[in-house]
Amino acid sequence: MRSSHRACGKTILLGEHWVVYGTTALAVPIESIETVVDVLPGQTGFHLDVSAVHRATAERVYSTALEGLQIADMAADWAVHVQSSIPVGEGMGSSAAFGCALIQALAKATHQRLSFESLWERVLELETVVHGAPSGLDHTVITHGAPIAFYGPQKYDVLHWPTDCSLLLASSGQPGSTRQAVENVAQWRKDNLDHFEQLQRTMSDVIEVGVDSFQRGELQALGQAMNESHTALQTLGVSLPILDRLVQCALDAGAWGAKLTGAGLGGAVLALVPKPCITQ
Ligand code: PMV
Repeated sequence: MRSSHRACGKTILLGEHWVVYGTTALAVPIESIETVVDVLPGQTGFHLDVSAVHRATAERVYSTALEGLQIADMAADWAVHVQSSIPVGEGMGSSAAFGCALIQALAKATHQRLSFESLWERVLELETVVHGAPSGLDHTVITHGAPIAFYGPQKYDVLHWPTDCSLLLASSGQPGSTRQAVENVAQWRKDNLDHFEQLQRTMSDVIEVGVDSFQRGELQALGQAMNESHTALQTLGVSLPILDRLVQCALDAGAWGAKLTGAGLGGAVLALVPKPCITQ
């Protein structure tokens, strides 16, 4: 019998990269994009219909998932189909959505009931295959399907959406690599430790104000925190001229705040815009 599971995308409002070093991050789900995994026992092979992550990585993720759930023997003649509308390398959670949907579809197919903790651990293993040393933020927000203030592995608060929170995502058309960006930041930190620590203290205050503004629905203040976040991410070296231009375009058009979202070195820009917003 077919077992299916879906997982949505996500975007990070505040705290990417800093979260790897223990600072809070704020992320929200994007329900309009998704990855669907179908497991069909009794057939043969792993089929990736649309690239959820690169094929070779997806195959490593799949075998890690089978090992993690201890079902490698049972799954020998299964077909697994993956379809995704989440762009790859755009900071929208394509790999975490793939991991969340895959683990839950495989668990369903083998009648395993996973606790949230065990789901979290299994997907973290998959995210580690893809990204190296992930914070766990992406799959936490995707698993909950709700805004999250994330403080560290399995330490987070589930938040409510503020009224009238309108977000726009603009793709740079250039995919980025989370693994590469995280490694670059680690190197920048090593080379500029005092500057990094000073900036992290500043950003920790900015993010705290931003999270508080999100909870209170004070969107202009949230926008200001996003603007300051973009400047700090530029300092870390993960922005690109195209991302800076997109941020400027959004601000010139009246956005309350705009920043690159996710790891950077490509990907997308997120803008917080006043309602009503007309998109084309
Ligand atoms: O996968 P992305 O592009 O959304 O980036 C994840 C956020 C980082 O803070 C850069 C890495 C992490 O593991 O939290």
